[in-house]
Amino acid sequence: MKQFIIFSFSLSLFTNSFSQTNSYVSIVPQPVSMEMGKGNFVLKPDGAIELLSTDADAKRVANFLSKKLSAVTGYAVAVKSVSEPSNSSGNIRFSLSNDGALGNEGYKLNVSSNLVTISANKPAGLFYAMQTLLQLLPPEIESKTVVKNISWDIPAITITDYPRFSWRGLMFDVARHFFGKKDIEEYIDQMVRYKFNLLHLHLTDDEGWRIEIKGLPKLTEVGAWNVKKVGYFGTFSPPTPDEPRNFGGFYTQQDIKDLVQYAKDRFVNILPEIDVPGHSLAAIVSYPELSCTPGSENYHVRSGEVIMDWSHGAPPIALIDNTLCPANEKVYAFLDKVITQIAQLFPFEYIHLGGDECPKNFWEKSDAIKSLMQKEGLKTMEEVQSYFEKRLEKIVESKGKKFMGWDEILEGGLAPNAVVMSWRGMEGGIKAAKMGHDVVMSPTTFAYLDYMQGDPIIEPRVYATLRLNKAYQFEPVPEGVDPKYIKGGQANLWTEQVYNMRHAEYMTWPRGLAISESLWSPKAKKNWNDFTNRVEKQFERFDAAEIKYSPSMYDPVFTVSKTADSLLQIKLSTEVNGLDIYYSFDNTFPDRFYPKYTEPLIAPKDAVMLKVITYRGKQPAGRMILMPIEELQKRTKRKN
Ligand code: ACM
Repeated sequence: MKQFIIFSFSLSLFTNSFSQTNSYVSIVPQPVSMEMGKGNFVLKPDGAIELLSTDADAKRVANFLSKKLSAVTGYAVAVKSVSEPSNSSGNIRFSLSNDGALGNEGYKLNVSSNLVTISANKPAGLFYAMQTLLQLLPPEIESKTVVKNISWDIPAITITDYPRFSWRGLMFDVARHFFGKKDIEEYIDQMVRYKFNLLHLHLTDDEGWRIEIKGLPKLTEVGAWNVKKVGYFGTFSPPTPDEPRNFGGFYTQQDIKDLVQYAKDRFVNILPEIDVPGHSLAAIVSYPELSCTPGSENYHVRSGEVIMDWSHGAPPIALIDNTLCPANEKVYAFLDKVITQIAQLFPFEYIHLGGDECPKNFWEKSDAIKSLMQKEGLKTMEEVQSYFEKRLEKIVESKGKKFMGWDEILEGGLAPNAVVMSWRGMEGGIKAAKMGHDVVMSPTTFAYLDYMQGDPIIEPRVYATLRLNKAYQFEPVPEGVDPKYIKGGQANLWTEQVYNMRHAEYMTWPRGLAISESLWSPKAKKNWNDFTNRVEKQFERFDAAEIKYSPSMYDPVFTVSKTADSLLQIKLSTEVNGLDIYYSFDNTFPDRFYPKYTEPLIAPKDAVMLKVITYRGKQPAGRMILMPIEELQKRTKRKN
């Protein structure tokens, strides 16, 4: 990658000095409208931020910009509160306006050779304008330390911009692996660069309960801790009694208050999720009386060992009971206590109560469930879950909040006002919208960031793949659905196999860029080739900011088939235009002096390994992929 980056830097120098075209301006997500002007604004040591507003949030945004510009340029870029625009040139001017077209998050940004003006109806718009402005500066603006000997140029331009959707989210699963407060703050800092405004925290699951609830101390004394294991999650050996249960963690209520404030300061709402009635092992281990199952006192918080049988499809068969018991009044008292505190801690209007992948096999055997069904006239286990969800909706509404869940909450009858988060494709969302319910789209097909983004031979193994170009095809409003019910969308980062922040970044970027563009930019502005050019420019910014990202979009894509005479035929392609592919079958490492791929390959009879690498011109782009011929042979037998 390093060599590729050097190449990109020289390319940007070339465009900087010789042209003022859109290729120089490379903003993600693509703004609604941009018009290039003539010349550049150059930030000078005496440049200041003029603030024509007394609004405290506007002032905070101006201070963010001042801090960032000062820290990297080494200049003292002060914020000057003024009541009239000054005559001095070289300043960045912030003001609040009243322009209906811009809404609550839009902005206007004008850069001329002597002045930058930013206006928005609301401080959130100023904040997004600032993100755009930073992307107009050289990538070194993202450096962690002062950068000298650089001209801080911003091309002359006029931008009008506002989002397509109000719900632009990323979900971070902090239950499977715990990520501390600093990590979440860092994740927020990264997401706002691309104008995301919602962070969904998946706070509870079989592997951990991550939030302090007063009066229920075992949730975090017991439920937040499991045994550290590495390998392929889901196949770990069951923990033995002598293995320490010291892996995990939780947020205190003070941590949550701090995070909510940190997010709010950056115009991000935090959506809390308490995943019930399935995925509840950590709660049950803490308070076994919440399950329908005698014997659950002996359960342990999951460390990644098998607890579910998926061989029959959904819902899964639980091997140990990880469900709360809908027939038990104690469960509703427990959830009332939890939801009361969640409602107080998180100002956002929605509370997500999961509802996904709930096994029913322990309920089927429970006498308590049988009596509940008789009493309530419930005919199926889906109706039992629906009964539970409807009671939850009432609890949530009694705290002045709105109830939301994964699309399984449709099964057995949707609660009257529920908002549906559609994850098993778009179908649940379509159905809910047609019933007049609000919907957030986060389908596995386009928006699951835990899936592999390149070939399984090189990526950390997960059970499915979502390449960048597929993520870019995310269109939240399906045909035939009234757009007014589609609040927006989000991408979900599940962390069964994400052990640390560097890998969380790798899984999020660049697919998060594709999702951000689907949620912010006008549909008509989306263009894959243009997007990939802009992604490459963002990579320079990620490098400067020391944020990890996946280079998978540069890797070759393998497609295999059998010829009429049963020979292995291999087609190679790339997601991104303009790359050359070089290969070897002789076990040596190909470079650009090796055969260049021009047509489908037939593997030589005794070959054992195909090695492939992509180049852009003279520079390696993708990673060297070592593909066993045996693996390709196996793939010819797979249906898809
Ligand atoms: C989910 O991915 N189980 C919502």
